[in-house]
Amino acid sequence: MDTPQKRILTGDRTTGKLHLGHFAGSLRNRVKLRHEYELFILLADVQALTTHFQNPELINQSIYDVAIDNLSVGLEPGEFTFVQQSRVPAIAELTVFYSMLVSVNALRHNPTIKTEAKQYGYDDLSYGFLGYPVSQAADITFCNADLVPVGDDQRQHVEMAKDMAQRFNHRFGRPVFRVPASVDRGALRLPGLDGSEKMGKSEGNALDLLDGPDTVLRKIKAVPTTTAPGPLDAEGDLPDVILPLMPPAVGALYRLLHLVAPWGVYADFVGKYRRGEKFYGALKAELARHVSGFNAPIIERYHDPANNAESVRAFLRDSARKVTPVARATVEAAREAMGIGRGL
Ligand code: TRP
Repeated sequence: MDTPQKRILTGDRTTGKLHLGHFAGSLRNRVKLRHEYELFILLADVQALTTHFQNPELINQSIYDVAIDNLSVGLEPGEFTFVQQSRVPAIAELTVFYSMLVSVNALRHNPTIKTEAKQYGYDDLSYGFLGYPVSQAADITFCNADLVPVGDDQRQHVEMAKDMAQRFNHRFGRPVFRVPASVDRGALRLPGLDGSEKMGKSEGNALDLLDGPDTVLRKIKAVPTTTAPGPLDAEGDLPDVILPLMPPAVGALYRLLHLVAPWGVYADFVGKYRRGEKFYGALKAELARHVSGFNAPIIERYHDPANNAESVRAFLRDSARKVTPVARATVEAAREAMGIGRGL
């Protein structure tokens, strides 16, 4: 008998276009794993409300942007299904059930929640923001995902989802929810062009997937490289080894070069750094060339007439039609296990 294909769920909040940091952190994993697994890609427009409640137009525009970005990095419509969160109300219903299975303290101490609250300047967290890992548990389990490939900032959320699913199953004595595994196979956190820890759109330190050669060159030239290169007391040339020994912005250039250029090109520039040669201009030009080469097919697919507003809309509609019964079945199983809603 054939074993059914295992299922992946992963996704992004729809708050703007995706950038190279998203590619390194998760898009490239989707591309890599798409044949091995059944792939569900979540367009988290409800979760986007937790930070962009005042700006629903941006969220709506971004649904289209994020959808087309996924298609442009090389995922074909036949190879995956979108889950537009707001079109699957059963996810919201599951969120309510899960909200009974997690303590406010656990949410308050979630490291990603803490970091993001600081980043958004929230002294006074909304209930919705604090609770987004709960809705994320519903995202992950409504479709019985086996694997959730995410970057390290999302791992704690997957742990919480596992915990809630387990508690539910245990409390009601049957395996209603599949307990997923998180994977970070190859997930990479890209630093920002300013050398800060994370590339992010709101930080203004990102390379966009659709940036053309001029923009790429301008952004890379602006990376501060005033400190002199100099001895690297490290074994080998791998980024994880050498980056901590470099000024952060210079390290960001090397991290990017390692991602987009052949190893030989990267290693050559590590050698120059070790020897303290003057080379930052050449490094930036070479990096810009490789980033532009990397972006070129993405830009081409983005402009492919097959990826037009109408076809994306139809794909979202078909996806919602496919996903809704899957989510309803899970909610019904949960209601049944809890024994609620049966009437008197
Ligand atoms: N929080 C994720 C992000 O910021 C998006 C997301 C929502 C997600 N639900 C998910 C990711 C479920 C993986 C699984 O990008």
